[in-house]
Amino acid sequence: MKFDIVTIFPKMISSSLTEGVVSRGIQRGLVDVSVHDLRDYTLDRHRTVDDVPYGGGPGMVMKAEPLAKAVSAITIERGQPDVVILLSPQGRRYSQVEAERLRHLKHIVLLCGRYEGVDDRVRDIVATEELSIGDYVLSGGEIAALIVIDSVSRLIPGVVGDPKSVEQDSFSRGLLDHPHYTRPATFRDLGVPEVLLSGHHAEVSRWRKREALVPTLDRRPDLLSTATLDDEEQSLLDQIQKEQGS
Ligand code: ADE
Repeated sequence: MKFDIVTIFPKMISSSLTEGVVSRGIQRGLVDVSVHDLRDYTLDRHRTVDDVPYGGGPGMVMKAEPLAKAVSAITIERGQPDVVILLSPQGRRYSQVEAERLRHLKHIVLLCGRYEGVDDRVRDIVATEELSIGDYVLSGGEIAALIVIDSVSRLIPGVVGDPKSVEQDSFSRGLLDHPHYTRPATFRDLGVPEVLLSGHHAEVSRWRKREALVPTLDRRPDLLSTATLDDEEQSLLDQIQKEQGS
């Protein structure tokens, strides 16, 4: 899987990729990340990447031309990308479903916006789609690009040590995760749910299902409308809702 990131802060991206899961993917040759400094694709002496907005108003707008040139250069150097994603708060909301879609692609270009916005013609002729990581405004798309790279990379077989841990991730089935515990069995007078020490696999599995459904119903009931529940989960959910009188 190839990622190309276009940014005015290349070090912000490269310094974040030296440790952790993505770095392991890179070392294993499963993930290939190339970072491009947008200023290398400017034509003027000052390496200008932004300009004042037409129509007036505060802030600066990122110019279309350097972004277009960067994507052309990447296409020549690294091949035709499958998608060119502009990261901005105006994009479609990024989610685990989007991560699952992207992981089947071979080559992703990520454009990190900055300043007040990006010349809208980038959306017409450079980007093939636009994604937002959430309803808040970051000072640029770099952190959003890192989130996309991390969440997609961990879905690539071989990047995360134990594939079961990816399957069981929160959201992989559309629910929040159940609680986890490790040794010691008593920590500051707090124990561990008895069932987890019982060695009874079916009981443990049922407990985990229930303990995933309870916080999902409480904090993210919206997830339940699209979650894929098995028969046991469905009957546990009915039972929880009955208990809660809803
Ligand atoms: N750039 C600034 N805010 C953003 C957001 N919420 N998602 C993606 N890119 C962004």
